[in-house]
This record gives sequence, C-alpha cells and structure tokens, in this order.
Amino acid sequence: MHTEQLVSTFVEYFHERGHRRIVGSTLLPPPGDPVLFTTSGMHPLTPYLEGSPHPLGRRLVNVQRCLRTTDLEEVGDATHLTVFEMLGTWSLGDYEGPLSLDWGYGLLTECLGVDPGLLHATVFAGDSQCEPDHASLELWQDRGVPVELTVEDNWWSNGPVGPCGPDSEIFLWSGDCPPESTPTQDDRWVEVWNHVMMRHRRLGDGSLVPLPQRNVDTGLGLERLASLLQGKPSVFEGDVFDPWRRLVPPLWRLDEPSLRLVCDHLRSAVVMLGDGVRPANTGRGYVLRRLLRRVLTVLWREDPSYSVGDLPDELVQHTLDHFRQHMSPAEVRSLLHDEERRFGRLMERGRQVLARPRFRGRLTEEDLHYLHDTHGLPRDLITNLRHG
Ligand code: SER
Repeated sequence: MHTEQLVSTFVEYFHERGHRRIVGSTLLPPPGDPVLFTTSGMHPLTPYLEGSPHPLGRRLVNVQRCLRTTDLEEVGDATHLTVFEMLGTWSLGDYEGPLSLDWGYGLLTECLGVDPGLLHATVFAGDSQCEPDHASLELWQDRGVPVELTVEDNWWSNGPVGPCGPDSEIFLWSGDCPPESTPTQDDRWVEVWNHVMMRHRRLGDGSLVPLPQRNVDTGLGLERLASLLQGKPSVFEGDVFDPWRRLVPPLWRLDEPSLRLVCDHLRSAVVMLGDGVRPANTGRGYVLRRLLRRVLTVLWREDPSYSVGDLPDELVQHTLDHFRQHMSPAEVRSLLHDEERRFGRLMERGRQVLARPRFRGRLTEEDLHYLHDTHGLPRDLITNLRHG
C-alpha cells in the first residue's frame, strides 16, 4: 500500500466515524509554546485538549508533520526519522479510550490487512498518582491481543508540565519468524500507534489535576506503518524514500548508514526551509545548521568535492510537493549551498587554528572556550577536525 493510499484510508475510516479533517500545521509550533518544533500531532491542538471548543467539533483527524531531535542519534536505524508525519485522531471530551483502541484495531486488521497475530499492546500499569488503565487492558483482552504492562513507557507527556495521561501503544511484529517476547524486551516489536488518554494536567509541583474534559489523543507513525505494510525492512526502503534511493547513490558514493543519514537530514532540511526556518546560530536555525553540518561532514569524509548544491531539483521538488510547500527548488539549493560555503570556510579556519602548536595536545575547557569565542569554532566541529 502506497503512503498516500494509507493516508486516505486512515482519514476516510475516521471520517466515517464522525471525525472532521483539520489541516495540519507547519513544523513551527504556535506562539507561546516552549518547544522549538512541533513534535506530535497534538501539539497545535493543546488549547482544545485543555477545554476550548474546537470550531470543527469534538472528533478530529489529521496528518501532521513533526520534527524530533531527541531521536537524532537513532536516525539510520529501521524506524527513526528526524522529520516524519503523524496520522492523528482526537476525541475532545467525546468518546473514551477503549472505543479509540477498538477502532484502531479494526482499521489495522480489517482495512489494512494486518494479521491480528502480529499485534502486541502495552498498557499503563499504574503508579502512586494514577491507577492502572483497566479499561484499555480489558479491551485488548477481549480482542485477544497480548498486553505488556509498564509504568514510565505508558505515560505520555509533552514536557514536565501540561496535559498528559496514560497511554496504550500498539506494536507490530517486524521479525522474519513468528512473534516472540514483548515490546520492551525485543525491538522487532515496532511501535506504530499510540493512544493517549489525555485527561490530566501536570502542575509545576509535580501533582496531577484533571483536565476540564477527558480526551483521547492518538498518533500513528506514517512512514513506519507504510514501510511495514510494504514489507520493507526499514523506513528508508518505504516508497517515500524511493526517489532518494534512486537519485542519491549515483551522485555520492556512500555506505548504507551514511546514505540513510544524508537522505534523512537533507529531506528534513528541505522541509524546514520550506516552513521558513533559516540556518542560524541559535534556536530552530541552529537545529537546521547542525543537520546540514552532519550531512557535510559525512559527505566530505567520503570525498571533499561532494556538494549539497548538486542535490537534484527533482528530489527537492518531490519533498516540497509532498509537504505542500511553495518554494522554488532553486532557492532551496542556493540556501543549502550558502550554508555549505560557510561551513567550508569555518572548517578551513579551524584547521589552520588547530595546527598551531598550542592546540596540538589535549584541549582544556579553557582552550575550547577560546576557540569558540575568538574563532567561532563550535566544540563538535573541533572534535570532528581532530578525530574525523
Ligand atoms: N501525542 C502522542 C504521541 O506523540 C499521540 O499522538 O505519541
């Protein structure tokens, strides 16, 4: 099943169950939100989860692009991407968790053809502040889906304070043999869909108070589920990455881990540029700068003549179209190229400065500060130049 088809099947299924589709936001969270990027579908909906009436009602469905830097070191494995899309549904004080889980089970097994024997669920086991999630446990037992109970892994929050609640996660078996073990013990169980019973608010002192309404917030990792349904061993082999795998290898000779990192980060960089982020030394711009520097470090390790300015227009356009962004591929390429030149100059300066006798031995904290403050050389770049 093609990714676009998966999106329409999902939206239609929930539309038939009374959900109205809302347009996803950009990667930039609404003003006043403390985080740099939208990290999940519920993000732009926070005021409505907290009780403000949503103009489209109490049942919503959407597709939201998200960016997570917490998973940066995991990018390149089978399931993590920096920018990814989340299919989401919400009950804003309407139906309860078990119905949401049951619909989730129905969509996966009846509409998407997932073998029920390949599913596993996890459920909140309870802690000193909140009781176990009996209702979710019963639902899964009724459907014959095995359940693992956990505490921390089944509590969802977006930060130390704010809306939160117990969740029930649905995992799909990705192994070549019949399913075994449990999600926390075996990473061949891939988490695809999280259903959060979002009905609490965490206060600054750590205590929990009820939200004005009992919500359900669900998020399904689109690229993950698509690649599993397509029988592919990783998200990088799913259809979303088809053009990348076709066009990047002839351009740059890279091993598989480097190819994955380069494709993930460049694709993410295009989406960030399309949403208006520009490279900078702080905030969002710095995240973009770091992604591009990681790409360039990998490319130049292989061959110093490789340039991101050579990224084919077709790839940039494919990404911009997918995310419905209106920017010209030429402008994207020129911004990438400017950033590359800037990094190239910085590397050159770094090499010259680090060649001085004073910096040949082990660098002290004071040296690192001096190199940063006087020569603009960030710590990770120095590490790269000395060990790269
Ligand atoms: N907010 C939950 C998550 O990010 C479900 O959408 O997993």
